[in-house]
Amino acid sequence: SSNLSSVKILAESPGLISIPSKYAHQSTNTHFTTASVQEDFPQASIPIIDFSFLSSTDSEQRLKAIQELGKACQDWGFFMVVNHGIPERLIKAVIEVVDEFFNLPEEEKMEYETKHVLDPIRYGTSFNASKEQTFFWRDYLKVLVHPHFHSPNNPKHFSELMMEYCQRTRDLASKLVGGISQSLGLEEDYIHKNLELESSQQIFIANYYPPCPQPELAMGMPPHSDHGLLTVLLQNGVGGLQIRHGGKWVNVNALPNSFLVNTGDHLEIFSNGRYKSVLHRAVVNNKAKRISIAVANGPAMDTNVGPCPRLLVRQKNEEGDHQEGTEIEAKYNAMKYREYVELQQGN
Ligand code: SIN
Ligand code: FE2
Repeated sequence: SSNLSSVKILAESPGLISIPSKYAHQSTNTHFTTASVQEDFPQASIPIIDFSFLSSTDSEQRLKAIQELGKACQDWGFFMVVNHGIPERLIKAVIEVVDEFFNLPEEEKMEYETKHVLDPIRYGTSFNASKEQTFFWRDYLKVLVHPHFHSPNNPKHFSELMMEYCQRTRDLASKLVGGISQSLGLEEDYIHKNLELESSQQIFIANYYPPCPQPELAMGMPPHSDHGLLTVLLQNGVGGLQIRHGGKWVNVNALPNSFLVNTGDHLEIFSNGRYKSVLHRAVVNNKAKRISIAVANGPAMDTNVGPCPRLLVRQKNEEGDHQEGTEIEAKYNAMKYREYVELQQGN
């Protein structure tokens, strides 16, 4: 049938030298510029967080790592994590098995075609995004993996690998959240307890961007910020991520065996705007397929999230003319995470 076409299938059409016009983004669209290849943008050096320092028993070393983490969340909203302890063989295997998933016959993937934003397994391509006026050069798979684990049955080892990978990245995110909690002057387990991370909502998102014959016209993923607390991003060694920094788009690349981590909307809300959930997007290229895997770690689905009350009280020495203990205005309304996701229709 006519909608059985992914971007992957389109990209594999023999002799394809130009892209269908519905994939071409115009400069009149305020979100985009026609120049959307990496080469046209500067390279950013985002902060690097050495995870081994954060889990150090040396309290001075840990304190320094916590301060760096807070500064990264405040100044960039994005940082790179090295020495994270997640085995390289697991990372490689997850990228491989995701590649295998996208190589399955279209009919099989289409069983998971997106219906509702909270369906546990959603496969999609731009062809199905009937509401969009311009389409994106990307196929995706989104799976809810926590507190209830789901997985497609195929490829064979997908479920097993995804379960291990999600457990490890959830643990990493949880420890980073502990450090972030302390960087805000709260106890290490404050966010964990108050946002009920025991039943945190975790989503595994795999993105597949085939090589594109006209990368300067196409866009892989539109500008967006992530909901939730922390997203842990992995890529197959091919760049394409751009983030908004200092009013400009900049390229972000990852060192081998590192993760890119960004703060989500709910950390921005919780910190009353101190930590920013930064806009980012993905551009495509004409040389190599790009695979990225974003694991989004959120609060529990039914947790009400608003600015943290303890951060709405002025501390000593802060803003000189105000008295200690006076109130700070809340910049965000509290709402259940579930309501927020439904309002946004995911991303
Ligand atoms: C994402 O924002 O979820 C992924 C962007 C990327 O592919 O790097
Ligand atoms: Fe994102």
